[in-house]
Amino acid sequence: MLRRPPFPRPSAAAVDKARLLLDRALGPSKVITSPDACLNYAGDESDQDPVTPDAVALVSSADDVARALAAASEAEVPIVPRGAGSGKSGGAVPVGGGIVLATIGMKSIKEIDREELVAVVEPGVILGDFHAAVEAEGLFYPPDPNSLKMCAIGGNIAENAGGPRAFKYGVTREYVLGLEATLMDGTRLRTGRRTVKGVTGYDVTSLLVGSEGTLAVFTEATLQLIPKPPGVVTLLALFDTAFSSGRAVSAIIAAGLVPRCLELLDAGALEAVRARGVPVDARAGALLLIEIDGDAASCEAAMERIGEACVSQGALDVLAAQDKAQRDRLWEARRALSPATRAMARFKISEDVVVPRTRLPDLLTEVGRISEETGVRMLSYGHAGDGNLHVNFLWNDPDQGPAVEKGLDRLFRAVIGMRGTLSGEHGIGTSKAEFLPLEQSAELIDLQRRIKTVFDPRGLLNPHKIFPRRGHGVC
Ligand code: MLT
Ligand code: ZN
Repeated sequence: MLRRPPFPRPSAAAVDKARLLLDRALGPSKVITSPDACLNYAGDESDQDPVTPDAVALVSSADDVARALAAASEAEVPIVPRGAGSGKSGGAVPVGGGIVLATIGMKSIKEIDREELVAVVEPGVILGDFHAAVEAEGLFYPPDPNSLKMCAIGGNIAENAGGPRAFKYGVTREYVLGLEATLMDGTRLRTGRRTVKGVTGYDVTSLLVGSEGTLAVFTEATLQLIPKPPGVVTLLALFDTAFSSGRAVSAIIAAGLVPRCLELLDAGALEAVRARGVPVDARAGALLLIEIDGDAASCEAAMERIGEACVSQGALDVLAAQDKAQRDRLWEARRALSPATRAMARFKISEDVVVPRTRLPDLLTEVGRISEETGVRMLSYGHAGDGNLHVNFLWNDPDQGPAVEKGLDRLFRAVIGMRGTLSGEHGIGTSKAEFLPLEQSAELIDLQRRIKTVFDPRGLLNPHKIFPRRGHGVC
């Protein structure tokens, strides 16, 4: 773990008051205060050190949410919304103590409207369960972060989650038509629409999506669905180096082809896949996992042209998954890469930088250079079609922390130098807050701080996220 100074916590008197108010408002069965049980709500999937909250509110309705927010307000303690805790930037970690507001109990899929292609869900619905429910109706909800078996839709919306299918279908924001949300002062808002089109007023829905739990707490979401694609084909293209696989990504895009997924795995990531028992040709030093959807004829035609584009960039082989079982095995290995790489070292940071797609080979070269110069083991994989790469830093010796810090700084500066962005899908949270000034001007950061103040004047809702500490931050 990297060393970061802790944030101040509320006083003992404020904590006592918050617990008492929560107990009164929700009833003791919905309030956790024992440190052991609170520990389960201390961390997420990021490198942020876990911080045990002072209390956890297990809400099951919008009224409960309003009551928990009122208790936090009255006691003047922080309150941090939490879905399934699968976030990767520290968004759900209660770094300043206080209350965790757990929405995971709000699990109802309230509606799936086949004619309007709309669904209405509560924030605690698990994404994989939602996929299964809409697909059973012949419909499709494209966002597919790789934690889909355990992540909750509320968290996906808070972080504007992406996933492999974002290349063709876009990220969560594209599918959120409207939200029901509660503000710190108890105001309950309905934003957005249920219709296909709608341009009334400011786009508050879009502002809330990706706001990382800092502006409001979602209690319901209205989501856009699309018809389920009739067929899917999965291809595997093997390359000797990540650099040539990166060039193949550019060639596929330049040919005007739009597979639904275009995932890249470098040599280090392949090692993790092989370690999970998926045999990958020993010659391969990189791989593209490509998925096309549509009718049989268009899939067939796209498959051929994608194969040609890969071969033109030196692919060693291009193979098609022969059946669903083979496809599932490939995706299982890809989706398990995050935990698999975590098992490769004592400490790990997975970034989610994005560069313009044509700069992907340059980014891969830069990652190699950073690893060589800092001596930190690094590997990369991710959503190459979007130019979105998970650059992983892996280390065992805590003394390597400063070298990792140096590598992170170099990576972010290189990405911004290529006109890229710090985060494609994990959000800024606490992990990247100090680096925000690399990408955004002081004026833009200040405007966002002022927006936060409008929603949450006393700064109690998920504090210390997104923005650098005052007087800190790189420049
Ligand atoms: C992924 O694409 O697997 C996830 O975004 C998580 C990650 O590996 O960083
Ligand atoms: Zn990802």
